[in-house]
Amino acid sequence: NAMLAWQRTAFHFQPPRNWMNDPNGPLFYKGWYHLFYQYNPFSAVWGNITWGHAVSRDLIHWLDLPLAMIPDHWYDINGVWTGSATLLPNGQIIMLYTGSTDDSVQVQNLAFPANSSDPLLREWVKSNSNPVLVPPPGIGLKDFRDPTTAWFVSNDSTWQIAIGSKNEQHTGIVLVYKTKDFVNYTLVSGVLHAVPGTGMWECVDFFPVATGSNDGLDTSVEAGPGVKHVLKASLDDDRHDYYSIGTYDANTNTWTPDDPEIDVGIGLRYDYGKFYASKTFYDTARNRRILWGWIGEMDSERTDLLKGWSSVQAIPRTVVYDMKTGTHLLQWPVEEVDNLRLSSIEFSNVPIAPGSVVPLDISKATQLDVLAEFEVDQSAFENTIEADVTYNCSTSRGAAGRGLLGPFGILVLADKNLSEQTANYFYIAKDTNGELKTFFCQDELRSSLANDLVKRVYGSIVPVLDGETLSVRIMVDHSIVESFAQGGRTCITSRIYPTKAIYNAARIFLFNNATSASVTAKSIKIWEMNSAFIRPYSDQVQI
Ligand code: FRU
Repeated sequence: NAMLAWQRTAFHFQPPRNWMNDPNGPLFYKGWYHLFYQYNPFSAVWGNITWGHAVSRDLIHWLDLPLAMIPDHWYDINGVWTGSATLLPNGQIIMLYTGSTDDSVQVQNLAFPANSSDPLLREWVKSNSNPVLVPPPGIGLKDFRDPTTAWFVSNDSTWQIAIGSKNEQHTGIVLVYKTKDFVNYTLVSGVLHAVPGTGMWECVDFFPVATGSNDGLDTSVEAGPGVKHVLKASLDDDRHDYYSIGTYDANTNTWTPDDPEIDVGIGLRYDYGKFYASKTFYDTARNRRILWGWIGEMDSERTDLLKGWSSVQAIPRTVVYDMKTGTHLLQWPVEEVDNLRLSSIEFSNVPIAPGSVVPLDISKATQLDVLAEFEVDQSAFENTIEADVTYNCSTSRGAAGRGLLGPFGILVLADKNLSEQTANYFYIAKDTNGELKTFFCQDELRSSLANDLVKRVYGSIVPVLDGETLSVRIMVDHSIVESFAQGGRTCITSRIYPTKAIYNAARIFLFNNATSASVTAKSIKIWEMNSAFIRPYSDQVQI
């Protein structure tokens, strides 16, 4: 089936076949980036969870290795679930992961590379002391999973890890354990953080960011001037990854958000689309922090079984503190992905009148990297007293709706008649005080003529500061559209399953559906993207 075959991506990581979910234990070791992942070796749906394993020199081209860990002990026989790597200062690697036991209890287990001189870390040994942690009193036996990378706390010379859970009141919580040897642990009293009403916190991540530079920080960098800590949780209830920036105090085992209104689970998301169970690691090779995220499917299980695979990983993103807003992180595709750029075409100062669609003449539009900047004609703001103060991407009519100052943007994976189109757009609201609010949205409602799909309009407010133009980067890769507004302050990922806008029929357009605002696309640069390889390791003659 050519339509289903087309959906496989060209430069996102995915195993050759079957089901994948969370990224696990990312690290850089002896010249290689390692990615482990939740994997079902037998089917395109979740189950039999093992750790798949792939390595890369550049985070883009991958060699798929043999399975790293399979469910083969009573303490993980129902699944080798999500976990994280810690690289100790002496070079030793500690892998901690959740096992679902023979009774489906969630416990934490320890594993090591069998041979630390193998840069590919192909063989893993599980500790004889497993499980090293079981659910503590008061915590549900199935609410205790996904240990983080450990960080070192110098005042009591211990390594500490965080594990997400929930309490009896449906409050999302983070437990912290300390250890000296990764075998024996003590629960640190209190909780690192709790947010009422948010339910089970999966895949907690906790890491420092520099507030005065774009350098990444090792996970053990301690709190102090110039350092804040990010806490992230994946909410099982609503399947989104929420982060918040705040202050960590190791002495009291607390983390406090800078702004309680944008606390974990109620405020900012890494991504407003399909993006979950993400995890960062500190890249020692290039001094940056990199975020991996799982992008699931929006088609039916039946179709996944037909096509024989399910899910991809997002393009790894560099994460830094946004020094301009102080409230957001900036996420941006790792620079290595730029090496896939082939020929490019550039347009400048393209007028997009209210109610118009402007085709961009490019021939191959299924693997793209697009950078665009828009400007709204000033008179539109002056002539508008109030517009759309209650706008909300998700409950609006998407790109088909019409307001005074939006929507306008780009249509990707569109066929020439626009019977299929995925819209990425800005929408500006203005209140009677003259204050502007900019929304950044992605509309899947017309993305496919197929109907066994979930289609939504995703998005949120994006901060636009004085003097900034509206800017977006969009990466199109067959069935994925990943977009980054204002340098990565707000990001949206969609899975798209066109039936017509595929192969050579896929096109790209500019559009402006505002009734009043004239918009100019100041600059648009579009690169055709090369394909990256994902090869079985055995195909590789030399490494
Ligand atoms: C998140 C998650 C984790 C768990 C794993 C199981 O997607 O549910 O909490 O460890 O997937 O595959």
